[in-house]
Amino acid sequence: MKLEIDQQRLNSEIETLAAISDAEPPAVTRIVFTPTDLKARAWVISRCEEAGLAVRQDAIGNIFARWNGADPTAPAVGTGSHIDAIPNAGKYDGVVGVLGGLEAIRALQQSGFRPKNSIELLVFATEEPTRFGIGCLGSRLLSGTLSADAAAQLKDNNGESVNEVRQKAGFRGSLQDVKLPSGYYKAFVELHIEQGPLLERSQTSLGIVKSIAAPASLRIAVEGAGGHAGGVLMPDRKDALCAAAELILAAENAARSSGAADTVATVGVCDVFPGAVNSIPSRVKMTVDLRDTDLARRNGAMKAIENAIVTISKKRGVAIQQELINADAPADCAPEVRTALADSCRDHGFAFLEMVSRAYHDSLFISRIAPTGMLFIPCRNGYSHRPDEYAAPHDITRGALVLAEALAKLAGSAQ
Ligand code: GLV
Ligand code: MN
Ligand code: MN
Repeated sequence: MKLEIDQQRLNSEIETLAAISDAEPPAVTRIVFTPTDLKARAWVISRCEEAGLAVRQDAIGNIFARWNGADPTAPAVGTGSHIDAIPNAGKYDGVVGVLGGLEAIRALQQSGFRPKNSIELLVFATEEPTRFGIGCLGSRLLSGTLSADAAAQLKDNNGESVNEVRQKAGFRGSLQDVKLPSGYYKAFVELHIEQGPLLERSQTSLGIVKSIAAPASLRIAVEGAGGHAGGVLMPDRKDALCAAAELILAAENAARSSGAADTVATVGVCDVFPGAVNSIPSRVKMTVDLRDTDLARRNGAMKAIENAIVTISKKRGVAIQQELINADAPADCAPEVRTALADSCRDHGFAFLEMVSRAYHDSLFISRIAPTGMLFIPCRNGYSHRPDEYAAPHDITRGALVLAEALAKLAGSAQ
């Protein structure tokens, strides 16, 4: 089987999708269920249909584009990623796995290969936590990791629930039906940029993921007392932002002092009320994103943050409420998927690193229901979630080629 990845088409499709954005280029912003996201989804669907794939969407907006195999009732082999993008993001996060996955399928079709098991491209809905506060909503529902009732109640910043937002966007089915039947996928492989610097530093163009780190996140509300910036004397203050600042440093310290570089903590949202120059902040809403490759160590850092919440609240006389948004276990990638990827690399003489994914991905949740693996390609300086995120066309092409061969191996040949 001789596979040709059309690098020019793939690259030009990545550029076309990047132009469907709510940010000034080169930045990309595509928040789930906005008109821009819906336009991008329609464009991806049109590409899939042009490739002869049978497309369906579920009630949360996951898109399935299937190339039927010779045995269409057998479990499918899945690939894919996401096209939603955080504010001020780049062109490649998620997109490489969606358009690279589509290109892998087209290359297999053009080679004359006929799969035994169907091969399905999956575009996960709402991988990014921007709108509803929790990442991977689509794959959590597909895998049954989050119940339909819990998902329906999540709200966006305007107070609109998942149900309201998705229904307005045209997704009216029941969330109860999103969970996949057991054995739906024989295997799943996600192609993604590394979002870290290790491949580039070691001058290796491919990474085969061994495991995916465990993410957790907290929503925190600090309630102090507002007042006049001139009139209220320092001993009398209950400044919510000063308490939040201490808490941010406590989260940083919990990660830095865990004893491992793999523990990382980030406060990426901090909303200050009332947000006036001469007014003491009375209320702060913030989030903590905490991750580690080791579950016990991640939980230890979480405990340290929770202890700091109690101490800071007492010391400053402010009320601090916390809500655990998610605390997920890590995942090991499946040996059969890793082997399929490694065999393809070896056949071509491509060097690869075996590595950990410190970012989370929908594969973390699909791994709960199917043998799952991930293939990484380098991104310049390890940059991601920023406008200058960049992956070289030849690396994307190489990733799509190895992905295509792994899909063929996992799906088997009908001939
Ligand atoms: C995914 O976007 C992540 O934050 O790891
Ligand atoms: Mn991302
Ligand atoms: Mn991603």
